[in-house]
Amino acid sequence: MLLSVDALTRVFGSNTAVDNASFDVPEPRMIGIIGASGAGKSTLLRMINRLTDATSGDIRFEGRSVLALKGPDKRTWQSRCAMIFQQFNLVPRLDVVSNVLHGTLNRRSTLATMFNIFPEADIHRSIDILERLGIAEHAAKRAEALSGGQQQRVAIARALMQDPAIILADEPIASLDPMNAQVVMDALRRIHEEDGRTRRS
Ligand SMILES: Nc1ncnc2c1ncn2[C@@H]1O[C@H](COP(=O)(O)OP(=O)(O)OP(=O)(O)O)[C@@H](O)[C@H]1O
Ligand SMILES: [Mg+2]
Repeated sequence: MLLSVDALTRVFGSNTAVDNASFDVPEPRMIGIIGASGAGKSTLLRMINRLTDATSGDIRFEGRSVLALKGPDKRTWQSRCAMIFQQFNLVPRLDVVSNVLHGTLNRRSTLATMFNIFPEADIHRSIDILERLGIAEHAAKRAEALSGGQQQRVAIARALMQDPAIILADEPIASLDPMNAQVVMDALRRIHEEDGRTRRS
């Protein structure tokens, strides 16, 4: 089993945000999670990524409990579990390539981070990923100079830079117009088909 969610529950005070959720993902799939506002979709994704603790239940990835991970193992999981958000979360004044390279931050030293120094191989890889998403021509521009759809593709590029085992997309097209929404969903689907990753949104 690739991903297994078992009786997952999260309680906030008197409010049960996620109530006994169970499902299995046997192989890489593109999966959508549908529910009304407040249904617990974001909380579910945040538990998978370990941004939020579960109250009870379990999440296993390739047979290993994700909820039991601690310290460096937890951080490794978080970096393999890329998140894409509605509001992109790019650094607006930073150029596109640097934003994409931020996907590798977790494995870089503080000093290298401070001086914005990246290995050449990573820079080449980030350009390849931007090419794949059809936005390499914007590589040198500031993120804030791009359209919403282009910015979300930069965010997807940053996620791919992490070499993720799973991509969790939380309403990735909610702030885009229909045309850009289509471009971004097509990009996610193509990545899924080409890379065979698991993703939920
Ligand atoms: N940190 C928190 N503290 C307290 N309650 C929270 C917290 N995070 C979420 N909740 C509550 O948990 C419930 C589920 O929230 P969640 O954000 O997961 O819903 P959602 O399905 O993503 O909704 P939306 O479609 O509006 O994004 C809501 O009732 C929300 O108020
Ligand atoms: Mg949400």
